[in-house]
Amino acid sequence: MMKQFLFSFSLFLFFLHLTKTLALSPAAPPSPIGPANIMKILEKAGDFTTFIRLIKATHVDIQLSSQLKSSSDGITILVPSDTAFSSLKADSLNSLADKEKVELVQFHVLTQFLLFSQFDTVSNPVMTLAGSGGKLLLNITVTGNVVNITTGIDYATISDTIYSDNQVAIYQIDKVLLPFDLFAPGPASAKPAESPDNDVPKDVSKSSSLVLHYSIVLFEVGIVAVIVSL
Ligand SMILES: *[C@@H]1O[C@H](CO)[C@@H](O)[C@H](O)[C@H]1NC(C)=O
Ligand SMILES: *[C@@H]1O[C@H](CO)[C@@H](O)[C@H](O)[C@H]1NC(C)=O
Repeated sequence: MMKQFLFSFSLFLFFLHLTKTLALSPAAPPSPIGPANIMKILEKAGDFTTFIRLIKATHVDIQLSSQLKSSSDGITILVPSDTAFSSLKADSLNSLADKEKVELVQFHVLTQFLLFSQFDTVSNPVMTLAGSGGKLLLNITVTGNVVNITTGIDYATISDTIYSDNQVAIYQIDKVLLPFDLFAPGPASAKPAESPDNDVPKDVSKSSSLVLHYSIVLFEVGIVAVIVSL
């Protein structure tokens, strides 16, 4: 009797855990993007499936609309083509922690609206959505008709204008912009271990709740093992 109770209780815990895990990865909520429906524009343009997937997975699409609402400076999005992503070293993206993926996407968003003809008016370094306190900045230089964006790790040039109104500009670039702060050569970038940044309590709590999660699973498995061995 007791055995059975324990068994079904642990089954219950197990399913509870399953549903919780499933609930952790819900479909991205509908993203009300302000004046221009940026995601639709990107989908229609084609050739940006990787960036679209990243921007949704990191929820930066939602941040774009709040950025547009809270600032009148507009935004400029530099979108690497699928070819740009496929020419990355195989592990570059996978080796990034979730928080770093967010930064990578944000790094492709300038916090000002720029017409193509305005790139040579910007003063370097240029602020990105990822940057604060002198971090995650990039430099833009214009030579003739070539807009060259440098990160300190690599550089990209603008190959096409995808969209532009007076608030949102979207340009295609030929390389993924690799932020110096994430990809600088050296021991720190070898394996981005869960180095506890002081300014990311959210992530830390997330990972400790994950640990808790796994301990619960281990505990459940333990109960089942004990019962089976009885
Ligand atoms: C862009 O800038 C990089 C770094 O300064 C330079 O090596 C590269 O030649 C430039 N590319 C173009 C097309 O201007
Ligand atoms: C931008 O240019 C400045 C001045 O040339 C340089 O010191 C800085 O390292 C550059 N930053 C990047 C991200 O390329």
